[in-house]
Amino acid sequence: MTTIVPVNAYLRYIGVNDREKPLFEHQWPLPYGMSYNSYLLLDEKTALLDCVDANQSDVFAGKLREALEGRDLDYLIIHHVEPDHSATIPLIRALYPEVTLVGNQKTFEFLDQFYQMDPGKRLVVDEGDSLSLGAHSLRFYKTAMTHWPESMVSYLAEDKILFSQDIFGGFGALDTGIFDDQVADTRLLADESCRYYTNVVAKYSAMALRALKKLDGLEIQTILPVHGPLWRSHPDQILKLYRNLSKQEQRKGVLVAFGSMYGNTEHMAEELTLYLKEAGIQDVKLLDVTKTHPSTVTAEAWKYRGLILGAPTYNHALFQPMKTVVDILTENKMKDKILGLFGNYTWSGGALKALKAWGESQPYTLLEPSVEARSSAKAEDLKKLQALAQAMAQALAAFPDQADPFSLDF
Ligand code: FEO
Repeated sequence: MTTIVPVNAYLRYIGVNDREKPLFEHQWPLPYGMSYNSYLLLDEKTALLDCVDANQSDVFAGKLREALEGRDLDYLIIHHVEPDHSATIPLIRALYPEVTLVGNQKTFEFLDQFYQMDPGKRLVVDEGDSLSLGAHSLRFYKTAMTHWPESMVSYLAEDKILFSQDIFGGFGALDTGIFDDQVADTRLLADESCRYYTNVVAKYSAMALRALKKLDGLEIQTILPVHGPLWRSHPDQILKLYRNLSKQEQRKGVLVAFGSMYGNTEHMAEELTLYLKEAGIQDVKLLDVTKTHPSTVTAEAWKYRGLILGAPTYNHALFQPMKTVVDILTENKMKDKILGLFGNYTWSGGALKALKAWGESQPYTLLEPSVEARSSAKAEDLKKLQALAQAMAQALAAFPDQADPFSLDF
């Protein structure tokens, strides 16, 4: 989508879609692309709110020039310096040399680390400062670690608009329109928002929650993030989703994630899912970590109260695809899981031992029994898997039934 879209009488959407990059931050798959949102505010003064990544610089500069309708650019508001939003700042500075860059102290510290450009005009803002643009003004709020230490948001009180930078963003290009009420597949949007949060922001959930509490004090009618749709009709829904993600709310169900080399550990996983169902657990999901990207396994693990991991032994140690998953879960500080484990080995163990050591180091409740098969599951192993399923059902029984915390209901 390359058109300039009016958000209201004085605001233009001039963001871009990126369908070239296969990976965000060169590590997270982008099967549906990515949007980098940017906004132009036209008042007595003109202000550009956030830029885009470098690979879309020509499209972006063209849209900005057209949206300005012959006017000069007075301000560039920099809410966040990660290069998916800052890589085109040097270009904008070169095209509009009189522009004043607006950021906090850390914004400029990071900007100077990334880009060797002459400083130009700069305005340093701090918590609660306002910038008047004529009939409208922006008030700045620091939201450190959502996503970086310099991250901040701004609030346009006249129309209750929040420019939220990475907060409330998600993976995915804007396909059927730029607004939330134009999204064709809300389930996909919810899933890709969760995958973005749980891989990019999750580690800083405590800070995200603090930022959300700060925003609680604002009356918000429209949320304009730098990724994903513009929330003009259902801002309550993305607020709810982000709040639930950052509070680590959970579904009353179980994710079984397994890796398997020759199908024997897979067999254990499949039997286990049947036993979980027989034990009365309705919501059971099975994922193969060798075929599902770790970012998706991470997102799904984040959502479920129950987590059962199973893997074979490889070179006396944990099968690498599973090791990658548990490393990400550790890094992201996932908590409050009911954890079950199973493993497999032929001549020397290692997988279950490693999973147990990991589970004991995490803030989880570790279920008994764990199950370890030799090469293939025998009757006694299947019995133990059944006991593990029953232990999971018993542990989950105390967890309240509730609506899905991770859906977008519109
Ligand atoms: Fe979209 Fe943290 O950058």
